[in-house]
Amino acid sequence: MDDINFDILKSLNILYVEDEEEIREEMTLSNRDFFKSFIVAVDGKDGLKKFQENSIDIIITDIQMPKLNGLDMIEEIRKSSDIPIIITTAFTEISYLQKSIKLKVDGYVSKPLNLKELLKIVSKASIKIVNERLTKSLEEINKNLEKKVDEKVEELREKDKIMLQQSKYAMMGEIIDAVAHQWRQPLTSIDMLSFGISSDFKHKINENYCNNISKKIKEQVHHLNSTLDEFRNFFRVDKKIDTFSIKDVINSVLTLVKDEFNKERINIELNGNMDIKIEAYYNEFKHIILNIINNSKDAFSDNSIKNKKIKISVSSTETKATISIKDNAGGIADEVLPNIFEPNFTTKKVKGTGIGLYIIKTIIDKIGGKIEVESIYSKDNELEGANFKIIVDKL
Ligand SMILES: Nc1ncnc2c1ncn2[C@@H]1O[C@H](COP(=O)(O)OP(=O)(O)OP(=O)(O)O)[C@@H](O)[C@H]1O
Ligand SMILES: [Mg+2]
Repeated sequence: MDDINFDILKSLNILYVEDEEEIREEMTLSNRDFFKSFIVAVDGKDGLKKFQENSIDIIITDIQMPKLNGLDMIEEIRKSSDIPIIITTAFTEISYLQKSIKLKVDGYVSKPLNLKELLKIVSKASIKIVNERLTKSLEEINKNLEKKVDEKVEELREKDKIMLQQSKYAMMGEIIDAVAHQWRQPLTSIDMLSFGISSDFKHKINENYCNNISKKIKEQVHHLNSTLDEFRNFFRVDKKIDTFSIKDVINSVLTLVKDEFNKERINIELNGNMDIKIEAYYNEFKHIILNIINNSKDAFSDNSIKNKKIKISVSSTETKATISIKDNAGGIADEVLPNIFEPNFTTKKVKGTGIGLYIIKTIIDKIGGKIEVESIYSKDNELEGANFKIIVDKL
C-alpha cells in the first residue's frame, strides 16, 4: 500500500457525486473512515451546490447523471476552481475522455469501483493539495516573520527616537549653561550702551549717534535671538532629511556653546574644506557634534588639562566626507575603548548616563554612515587624546 498516504487522506474533505443509490451507499460505507469527511451528492446539480457550500479538497464524480451530468458540473466548477477531480465511469467513449482532459480532470477510476484503486488515485491527486497547503503555510510563516521583523524594527526605531529625545533633555542643563554664557556678553553690551546713552545725553547726542547706538543694539539682539533659536531648534524633532554644509552645522553648534568653551579656555580650531555638503537630519547632526565636543569638555575637566584643544577637520574622497574631531583631553583607556558606543556605558560617576555615543552611532547608522574612534599618543607614547571620525556620503 505504498502508493497510499493514509495520513493525507485523513486530512481531506471529499465530495462524492453519484446518482445510483446502491453504489453511493456502498461507496460511503467503504470509504468514509479513510477521510476527514465524505460528503455525498445525488446528481450534478446537488454536487455543485454542496461544492459551493462546503470546503472541499477533492471531488469524485460519476459522469452520467440526471439534472446536471458530471462533465457539465465540472465545467461549472472549473470556472472558479482548479480543485482535483476524479471521474468514476463505466463509459470509455472518446468524447467523454476528450472533454474531461480539456477540463483538467486529475484521475479516472472505472466502475465497478475498486477501493484500493480509488484510494491510490485520490492519494495521487492529493499531492497537489499537499503542495498547496505547504506553500500556503510557508507563505503564512514568511508573512508572519516579515511582519514580526517589521514590528521589531519599528519598535527599535521608536525606542531610539525616545532615547535621542531623552539624551537631548539630559543635556538641557548643560545647554542652558551654555546659553547663559552666550547671553551674558550681548546683555552686558546692551547694558553698557544704555548707560552710555544716559551719560552722553547732555552733550553729544545727534542723529548719527542714535543710528550708531541703534545698530549696535540690533547686533546684540540679533545675537541673543540666534542663540535662542538654536536652543529651540536643538529640541525639535527632524521631520525630513536635509542638505547642508558641514560649516553650517558646526557653526550652528558653536553659536550655542562658543562662549562656554571660551570660558573653559578650550580652543576650537576648524580645518579643511568645511563647505562640503552632506545629506542628513540637521538637528540630529548638531546633536552628534555637540555630544562629541561635550565629551571632550568633560574629559578636559576630569583630567585637569592645561592647553585644551579641539581640532575639527574635514577631509573627503570622491564620495565620502570625513569629519574628524580630535582632542587632547587625556584619551580613552584601552580597556574602556571597545565599550564606549554601548548603551548606558559611562565612566562618569555623577553626571553621565552613557547614552551619548550610543545615540550618535544610531543616528549615523541610520544615514548609512560610520563612526570610528582612535587614540592619540604623544611623542613619548603617552595617551594624549581621542579622535572621533564621522564618515558619511558627501553630495
Ligand atoms: N573625548 C573623550 N575623551 C575621553 N573619554 C571619552 C571621550 N568621549 C567619550 N569618552 C568615554 O566614553 C564614555 C561614553 O561616552 P557617552 O557620551 O556615550 O556617555 P557619557 O558622556 O558618559 O554620558 P552622557 O553622554 O550620556 O551624558 C564616557 O563615559 C567616557 O569614558
Ligand atoms: Mg557624553
